Amino acid sequence: VSPHLVVAVDGPAAAGKTTTCKALSRRFGLGYLESGRTYRIIAFEALRRGLPPDNPVNVVDLCDELLRESREQDLLTSGRYGSADLRSPSVNVAVSDVARIHELRKRVTELVRLWARHQGRCIVEGRDIGTVVFPAAPVKFYLTASPEERARRRLGQEGGASYEEVLADVVRRDEADMSRAVSPLVPADDAIVIDTTTMDLEEVLARMGAACERRSVTFS
Ligand code: CDP
Ligand code: CDP
Repeated sequence: VSPHLVVAVDGPAAAGKTTTCKALSRRFGLGYLESGRTYRIIAFEALRRGLPPDNPVNVVDLCDELLRESREQDLLTSGRYGSADLRSPSVNVAVSDVARIHELRKRVTELVRLWARHQGRCIVEGRDIGTVVFPAAPVKFYLTASPEERARRRLGQEGGASYEEVLADVVRRDEADMSRAVSPLVPADDAIVIDTTTMDLEEVLARMGAACERRSVTFS
């Protein structure tokens, strides 16, 4: 299966990627993958094993070990990890370190491409899906919103921390993702950029759905 059947969705934290991707995957019958989950699983396992998440050799060895121990798909979609594991404040910090490691990104990129090849028609969200993983995807979205609005959204989903703490994490992760040397977060030249700061979910979904229909995601 060629990359022509991939819908790529990128953007910063809490821009609405997961929510919209799930809705579009149901509507158009597309497989769905959250690529950030794999980076979070690696970060979680590094912390659990006491490995420094910013050490490329340790982290790549860990990834290879996890790949040997389990099926490749486990690193992408395993339900073994709950959101308490993968979305903790310590993983939120460690994942930025892990995501900077070029050799790790190469492995994750290959895993995601392999998954997509088996899926056929699919929608994949992340930070570098339209720029690096599937540069030839026919439909690309870049969702964004102001940091303050995204912090409010994340707080509404997860609670726990204070607004100031959530905002600080969002801003720190934006900066880390946008400024790293490999695969920085940036809209692809041909991405449809949607600033959702003042839009509700229905409006965003209507825009995305219409673009998918224009590009014939509905039949192929
Ligand atoms: O859900 P949220 O947007 O907060 O984050 P995520 O999609 O789970 O991604 C967590 C982190 O993984 C991001 O902040 C990036 O550092 C990294 N990531 C990446 O580098 N490339 C991707 N394709 C997906 C995630
Ligand atoms: O995947 P990502 O981190 O980009 O964001 P998400 O987890 O899909 O969305 C964060 C929260 O914002 C969810 O509770 C959505 O319902 C909400 N939201 C949104 O995604 N888009 C809007 N236009 C308004 C609210």
